[in-house]
This record gives sequence, C-alpha cells and structure tokens, in this order.
Amino acid sequence: MPGRFIIRDPLALHREGVMKSRELVAWKDNISVAAYISEVIKPCLGPRGMYKLVSDKFGETAVTNDGAVILEKMELHHPVAKILRETAKTVETIIGDGTKTTIILIGELLKRAERLISHKVKVNKIIEGYLIAYNLALHRLREISISIDKIDDAILKKFILTLFNSRDLNDTNFLANLMMEALSYTLKKINGKYVLDRDSIRIIKKIGKRLRESKVIRGVVIDKNIVHLSMPRTVRDAKIAVLNMALKIDEFRHLQPYKYEINIRDPLHVEQFLEEEEKIVKDMVNKIISVGANVVICRKRIGKTAGQLLAEAGIIGIERLLKEEDFNAVAKITGANIVADLDDLKEEDLGRASIVREEKFGDKNAVVIEGCNNFKGATILLRAGLEDLLNEVEHVIKDAIRYISSILEEPAYVPAGGAVEEALAITIRNESTKYSGKEQLAMHAFANALENIPKLLISNAGYNPVDVIPELRSRHLNGEYYYGFNPFSGKVINMIENSIIESYKAKEQILKTSFETATLLLRIDEVVDRRYAKRHEGELGGQ
Ligand SMILES: Nc1ncnc2c1ncn2[C@@H]1O[C@H](COP(=O)(O)OP(=O)(O)OP(=O)(O)O)[C@@H](O)[C@H]1O
Ligand SMILES: [Mg+2]
Repeated sequence: MPGRFIIRDPLALHREGVMKSRELVAWKDNISVAAYISEVIKPCLGPRGMYKLVSDKFGETAVTNDGAVILEKMELHHPVAKILRETAKTVETIIGDGTKTTIILIGELLKRAERLISHKVKVNKIIEGYLIAYNLALHRLREISISIDKIDDAILKKFILTLFNSRDLNDTNFLANLMMEALSYTLKKINGKYVLDRDSIRIIKKIGKRLRESKVIRGVVIDKNIVHLSMPRTVRDAKIAVLNMALKIDEFRHLQPYKYEINIRDPLHVEQFLEEEEKIVKDMVNKIISVGANVVICRKRIGKTAGQLLAEAGIIGIERLLKEEDFNAVAKITGANIVADLDDLKEEDLGRASIVREEKFGDKNAVVIEGCNNFKGATILLRAGLEDLLNEVEHVIKDAIRYISSILEEPAYVPAGGAVEEALAITIRNESTKYSGKEQLAMHAFANALENIPKLLISNAGYNPVDVIPELRSRHLNGEYYYGFNPFSGKVINMIENSIIESYKAKEQILKTSFETATLLLRIDEVVDRRYAKRHEGELGGQ
C-alpha cells in the first residue's frame, strides 16, 4: 500500500516519505482497514466462535478469542488499526466484554457508509442518518431492558454463565462457581447498593494440577519465600505487620537519613558501630514483638540480623514485596495499616488472618495468607498444566470482575443471542419511513449493521442465516423481542425464559463506542501518515 496514495506536498510542509491521503481516498483507506479488522474478528463472535493463535513480536503466543487480546497481539500499525485497538481496550476496561461486537459494528457501519458514499450520498447526510438511528437504538434499548430490583446470587450467576459460555471455556460451571465464591467474599453493600471494588479480587496463577483444582482463598497469596530458614513455616491466628520500609540498618539509614546518624572516625569504632547497628535492629524487632505481631511483611529487605531475631521470636518474615499493587493488596485484604516508621506501629495497625503458611507450588514456594474474614478480599488461585490456558482463564476472570462491577453500577439486563440487535434494527427500520430519502438510507444501513450480529452468531454456529433470520424477524415483528438465537441448539428461543442474559450497560456501551468511533472515522478527511517519513542524515530518534 505505501506509495499508492502519496500526494506531493506543494508547500513542502512535510518531509519526504510522509504519506497523505484526502477525502475519498482517505475514507476508502480507513474503511478498508476497519473492514479488514472486522472481518478478522467476525469468525470469533459468539459462544461458538473460533479461536486465534496470535504471536507478538516477543514471540509470546496467545490462543484466544478475546477481541482486545487479538488486536493487541496483532500489532497492526495503520493509524486506523491503532484507533480500533484502543477502542477495544477501552470497552474491555469499562465493561470487560463486548469488544468483538464493537469492532464488528464499527466495520459494518463504515462498510455500509462506503456504499452510500459511492452512491453519491454525502458523508454529512450519512452521519445525520446514523445519529438518528443511534438515538432510536439507545431509546429502544432502554425500553426493552429489565431492571434488577434485587441483586442476588442467582442473577449474578446467570450473567457470569453467559459471559463464560461465550468464551467457549471448558469447565464453565466450575469457573462460574469459583467466581461466585470470590464475589461472596468481596461484594460490599453501601447505602443499600452492592459495589465491587475491582482490586479486591486477586488472581494468582500456578502451573501444575488441573483447572478444576483451582480454588478461592479468602486472603492473599504472595509469590515469596519466608526469609529465614529457622522461622516457623506456619503461624495460626496471624497478626500481620505490613511495613513500607526495610528491616536493615543501611537501607534504614538511607531511607531516614536524619533519624540515625552514625559517624565512624576510628577503626576501633567499627565494632562499636556493628554493635550499635545490632542494637538499632534489635529495637526495631522488639517493637514488632511488643505490639504482638507474628508475621512481618516488608516492602524492602529484611537484613540478616533482623531475620535472625525475628526467627528467634517465632515471627514469620517476608521481604521485598516491591510491586506496589501486591503490597497494597496484602494490607487491604488483611486489614492492616501500612506503617513506614516503626515508632508509629500499634497493635491496631496489624492485619489479621487465621493462618499464614508457606506452600509449595511445583518447584516454587508461595506464602498463603488465609482466613482474612474481617475484610473484603479474595484471591483466586488458578491451576492448570498449560500456561496458555492459565492466561486465558485469568483474562476471562478479570473481564468477569469488570463486567460484574459495571452491572452493579447499573443493574439491568437484556436478552442475549442477537435479540437486542434484531429489536433495535426493526425499530430503526420502522421509524426510518418518517425521514427523507438519504437519511432513510443511512438509517437502513445502521439497522443492517446491527442485524449482522445475529447473522454472525448463526453462521459461526454452523447454521445458515437465510434459514434462521426470517424466524427471528417474524418473532420480533410480533413483539416477541426477547427471542434470540441459541448457538448450541440452533433454535430461536426466548432468551429471558432460558436465563441467557447480558448486561444492559454493556450493550449501551457497545452502541455508544461503535457509533462514536465509526462517525469519528467518517469525519476524517485527511490522513497524514509519517511512518515512512525519511529522516535527515545523522538525525536520531523519532521523526
Ligand atoms: N449462550 C448464548 N446464547 C446465545 N447468544 C449468546 C450466548 N452467549 C453469548 N451470546 C451472544 O454472543 C455475543 C457475544 O459474543 P462474544 O462474547 O464472542 O463477543 P463480545 O462480547 O463482543 O467480545 P469479547 O467477549 O471478546 O469482549 C453477544 O451477541 C451475545 O448475545
Ligand atoms: Mg463476550
């Protein structure tokens, strides 16, 4: 493609090699990139969609059917591809689902716009028509959604099952139960409303055993050894000090330079210094003992002397929890207050757990802090023999956490199986008669783009849309808008009665993002692509 649409820059505003395309060429190129990506994603849509094996530039592979991961790993470089990748990522971060539907809808909206452009419909008219259709769709979506008066386990499990089923995982039910257990330890009720703190569910992956041997721990698992060999390997009724500091003199001095000053002027003083050092460390450990802690978790190092003294006192020490996220999670889930100066350490700062123990996973140890019953937090410990499977399941669970927390923000659901898209398409077509020719065409294009979703669910499941779509349409024309396609049986069924439901908020977000991105791409009338711009001789760095 490079070179195909190089436009000479008469004012030499850009350097040599910069590619520019305008108006029709710009639209066509943008649309073909979006359409290509959408075609790549299409076979993966729905519970019976295909997987992709994608490998990134580091040779890291992923076997996945998750839209955001596929786009990420494909590392496409065209500016439009980047926009789509970011779009998928945003949708995933906000609602944890719907990335493929969004990308496919964008591709369809653009492809249909291109056809209209080639029939001399102006872009502005298309955007106007799309906007009318979009507003109708949002309104209709609200109408057909069903509010949830009372969040309970049954309804949450329905959502999780639909989500997990659409990822084509084995052991869906087992994983859904795992997720439900984690939720039971983490859901909070604030002012009568359930909320889920996304960070309160942690996931840890350990190669070995089978997926079914994964479990939920009401606590945290830390990928660390207990620092000293003579420390106990298990402590019951744990009282945990979480320290954002080192238990070691030099680092301690470095961190708090004005607190301890040691000047050595005579070689004989070295011994004195060492004694002094030991005394300072002893004071530190004594302070820990005096508040009753029997587990110490240090952000930084635990020195030899400190380790020895802690071990003598029967205290477990874990050092160098450098990642802020892990460190904060330990404090949050055990209910500890992070302390950065031992003078401030009090008994009420200690976190609690019924047991802290070192456990072997494969050939590595980890410390399991379990029974943190007073605080909201849980760790899902995933086991499987294959790293790819562990990563895929981790990804799905992370999505489920986002999905559930977005549902809690707006508790309402809609039928799955393309029912929503069909209902919206029909409403838009019905309403389109009220509008003038060109807008009407754009509205029809919008409706057809939406109807493409049930069509893909049907064809990806191995059925022919020509056989199924008429039945789906006639149900909807009869006002039976809960009817959608079941990819497992090949039948058009009432999705709500069969508990195949999806989040209202997710559908709304999918609509919003696809409309906004598609119209944004249509509004672009010039693309300046500097990827192939020549550098001046001797010039370093970017262009
Ligand atoms: N059990 C089911 N029966 C019928 N339709 C289903 C079922 N599960 C999911 N679907 C439909 O499949 C579509 C979602 O498919 P999928 O999860 O593959 O894509 P996505 O959610 O857009 O992308 P991703 O999950 O990768 O972010 C939705 O239209 C949904 O209604
Ligand atoms: Mg999905």
